Amino acid sequence: MSDNPKSILVTGTNSGIGQATAEYLASHGFHVYAGARNIAALKDLCKNQNITPVRLDVTNIEDIIEVKKIVEQNAAGLFGLVNNAGITKAGPLMDVSVEDLRAQFEVNLFGVHQITQALFPLLLQTKGRIVMMSSDSGFFATPFVGPYCSSKFALEGYSDSLRREIISYGVKVILIEPGRITTPIWSKGEKILKNAKYTDSIFWKEAKAMGEYAIQKGKTSGLPPIAVAKTVYHALIAAKPKLRYIVAKNSFEYKLMKIFPAWYVDRLVLKKVQEVTRLVAQKAEE
Ligand SMILES: NC(=O)c1ccc[n+]([C@@H]2O[C@H](COP(=O)([O-])OP(=O)(O)OC[C@H]3O[C@@H](n4cnc5c(N)ncnc54)[C@H](OP(=O)(O)O)[C@@H]3O)[C@@H](O)[C@H]2O)c1
Repeated sequence: MSDNPKSILVTGTNSGIGQATAEYLASHGFHVYAGARNIAALKDLCKNQNITPVRLDVTNIEDIIEVKKIVEQNAAGLFGLVNNAGITKAGPLMDVSVEDLRAQFEVNLFGVHQITQALFPLLLQTKGRIVMMSSDSGFFATPFVGPYCSSKFALEGYSDSLRREIISYGVKVILIEPGRITTPIWSKGEKILKNAKYTDSIFWKEAKAMGEYAIQKGKTSGLPPIAVAKTVYHALIAAKPKLRYIVAKNSFEYKLMKIFPAWYVDRLVLKKVQEVTRLVAQKAEE
């Protein structure tokens, strides 16, 4: 490793994709500032000498100012910001409260904006890179996960605007669009579904079935988080990184979804909802 490696700040590193990314980048020549709301949860990452843990709730401006001060002490500056931290709020949109929708955007969009804006001057000095952890939900909106999908679509729009604004200043903005990745996000989703506030909704049967189906698939048949970590690494080192990287088993299907007309995708989605609802009901009767 070089004496003065390039530094990358990764948010949300105490589990899943963020943790895998921090580890992978640190073992491939970068110095990593690993952000987490709870630093105590980073005890394994702390063993790696190329990782500096930093307390960072992306919705908390005081945390961000502190992290900026820490990073500014490094003569190498900051080469990359990986906006990975994210939460999921789900439920039928006609039952989701505006508070839940705000809480969703608070982390997945406003948090991203707050930290990117604060660290941009450092990235400008290094002509660095901003990597946004979007999702397949950033271009393909599934029913009953409206808050999450809306926030990731917003992140995509935000990233496109930002990229076009700063392109001539040498700072690159790259979107990562993972499909299903097996991380703790799914067990968190399970808890949310168990404590769902909308069980008397007219959409409950379909919403519950789709939630259970997605969670079961996510827990058992997703790609491992290292697949995303490797893509982030590529996005940081490639001379000409792509603007978007899909990381999924079925990336061809996703590419088709991006070009099919919306009315046709609607039909496919409706068919899927009906099929899943039927299957889940059958299973419950067995
Ligand atoms: N897993 C998938 O299938 C998948 C697919 C597409 C995109 N993604 C995206 O990938 C990213 C990582 O998700 P994951 O699957 O690795 O889930 P995860 O294991 O739940 O990780 C999410 C991370 O974000 C952190 N976080 C939440 N709110 C935060 C805040 N206000 N400030 C700082 N950190 C915060 C969490 O910390 P706490 O433990 O403190 O809550 C956790 O470390 C998310 O943006 C997610 O939307 C995931």
